[in-house]
Amino acid sequence: MTAPARRGLASLTHRPACRPGGHPGGHPGGHPGGRRVLYGADYNPEQWPRATWREDVALMREAHVNLVTVGVFSWSVLEPAPGEYAFGWLDEVLDLLHENGVSVDLATPSASPPPWLAALHPRTSSVDARGVRMSVGSRNHFCPSAPEYREAALRAATALVERYAGHPALALWHVGNEFGQECFCDLCAAALRRWLVARYGDVDALNDAWGTAFWSQRYRSFDEVVPPRAVPYLHNPAQHVDWRRFSSDQLRSLYREQAAVLRAGSDAPVTTNFMGFFGGVDQHSWAADLDVVSDDHYGDPQDPASPARSALTHDLTRGVGGGEPWLLMEQAAGAVNWRPHNVPKTTAQMLQDSLRAVAHGADGVCYFQWRQSTAGSESFHSALLPHAGPDTHLHRAVREQGRLLAGLGDVVGTRVPARAALVVDWPAMWAGELPARPSDRLRVVEQLEAYHRPLWRAGIATDVVASDAELDAYDLVVVPSLPLVSDAAAASIASVPQRGGVLLVGPFSGVQDPTTRVRTGLFPGPWTDVLGVAGEEWRPLPDAGVTVRSATYGDHVARVWSERLTARGAEVLATYDDGDLAGSPALTRRVLPGGGQAWYVSTVPDPGVLERVLLDCAAAAGVHGPLPLVPDGVEVAQRGDLVFLLNHASDERAVELAAHARDLLGARVTDGVLRLPPGGAAVVAGARAGDPVATPPG
Ligand code: GAL
Repeated sequence: MTAPARRGLASLTHRPACRPGGHPGGHPGGHPGGRRVLYGADYNPEQWPRATWREDVALMREAHVNLVTVGVFSWSVLEPAPGEYAFGWLDEVLDLLHENGVSVDLATPSASPPPWLAALHPRTSSVDARGVRMSVGSRNHFCPSAPEYREAALRAATALVERYAGHPALALWHVGNEFGQECFCDLCAAALRRWLVARYGDVDALNDAWGTAFWSQRYRSFDEVVPPRAVPYLHNPAQHVDWRRFSSDQLRSLYREQAAVLRAGSDAPVTTNFMGFFGGVDQHSWAADLDVVSDDHYGDPQDPASPARSALTHDLTRGVGGGEPWLLMEQAAGAVNWRPHNVPKTTAQMLQDSLRAVAHGADGVCYFQWRQSTAGSESFHSALLPHAGPDTHLHRAVREQGRLLAGLGDVVGTRVPARAALVVDWPAMWAGELPARPSDRLRVVEQLEAYHRPLWRAGIATDVVASDAELDAYDLVVVPSLPLVSDAAAASIASVPQRGGVLLVGPFSGVQDPTTRVRTGLFPGPWTDVLGVAGEEWRPLPDAGVTVRSATYGDHVARVWSERLTARGAEVLATYDDGDLAGSPALTRRVLPGGGQAWYVSTVPDPGVLERVLLDCAAAAGVHGPLPLVPDGVEVAQRGDLVFLLNHASDERAVELAAHARDLLGARVTDGVLRLPPGGAAVVAGARAGDPVATPPG
């Protein structure tokens, strides 16, 4: 199946300020060009009586809410008995929302099948790796391979599109919710075998790819293959990674069949909500099937690294969507309820988190959920409208945020000007999470965070992309840790310095092919020539680390990992000083004849040193942040011509800008100096001489 052309977010974000026949869709002060940042939440009216719906829509209007997701978990109310749909309540809800200028992201209910489905067809419930079938009474208990589940899910999606395709509130379709679960049942085993036949053709190829000569695992036929269910000791790593690929594809086929029905019956774009780096689905392989890429993101408010992590995740989401505007589908307004100890966001963090997403390419920021539940498992999870009601500190901040976002029409549809890329793939993450590697302390996502952080601190726009992405637009390409990579992708990455760009590769990269088979010879196999290094041994370090000497970066302690390496054409910028590797290169740079550069880091350097390495690579690539001087503690990011500034420091920070700079959030810029209070935020037009000032408010 080839993916249809993308419909994008513009049909939601580019709206006239007043909608014909309905209530003003834009709010006072709306963008003159009719562009609007989307703002809203999951809305679960089925949990509330009708009178509450009226209060909800009135409060949504006051809060400038313009998009809500309806129906994600409504299956048992929508289809109370098999084949009997109860649409009356949903008709009413959609009408009410439309009358109040709120667009609807209408969800297919397939994430949580009703109890009757499991009662009628027990095999629609999933089975875990130990063979335990999941019960009803929670959510996400479906088996993606059970025909009765798939039929019922598709029937519900069809019923929804037939009824609501023409409804004026309908703006977006939302298929299922947070795909990512696994099922190890016999139906999934049969589907896995079909998937393997399609991938490998014959069982010898499978045996070869999985290395089944090891531990007597050779299969005589595909019929003998099973999912990686409970085993006495380690799983076959190739089987594990293929299983993750299969599980992702199986869920994707479920998504696709619903999306196809929705697309055929309606013009609205189709999305589903991903979960950042969560391993359940390979977002890169799904991307072409989504009109709009959406993500759910729940940063931990008490984690000082949370802003950096959030920015990285947003850069991933934008990268998955090829740089197009995306949608932050869910976040928390205050506290979640699923950490052991749920520290809430401050309202300043709430606004900063939303603005960060917008700065990193989101054209909408939504929440879980609109009204805080009083029953069920999430009644202690925050919402935009708390139990205590609208006259509360949190809800006042929600309204204020809506007002501020309504003034950001200029940002809508613009791109993040990224000339730097970080490379990661889901199969590499899957391989990188397996046990029985040299060290479980060298983690793919942690390395990604470590290499992204200095770029983020400098405000350098960075896309996170797949190894087989088109890299031509990037002057700086960073591969923090990519244990598994195909030859073709490795060749494309190697071409970056050959065409004059800068490539930086981190440790334990290029080690395995896509089947997880280790490449023999010197490492990093596909990149030894371009990097000008030859590695022969991985040597995880004792806890104390190792001293690294560097005339360029100063002596420091490196941790976790080292490699026995020789330079073959690269300049050595740092060497291991003690231990078995004394004198061996820790950090190298090769300058290619055309001026391109290829850097290799064979350890986990001190973060300060890594920061300088990254900034040197960026400088060599001619890549920089939007402002030359940003005070410590202030996060900066550029989107289009706008510069976003978020103060994380506990006191005021002054930022020097061009004299004509203007903050679209209303903070005063005096003589080109923006004064940001602690927790403060600004979205600046005309930040630099030559930058356009924004469209005047309508
Ligand atoms: C998400 C989910 C929502 C809600 C939220 C709570 O994973 O999609 O339905 O459960 O978490 O944080």
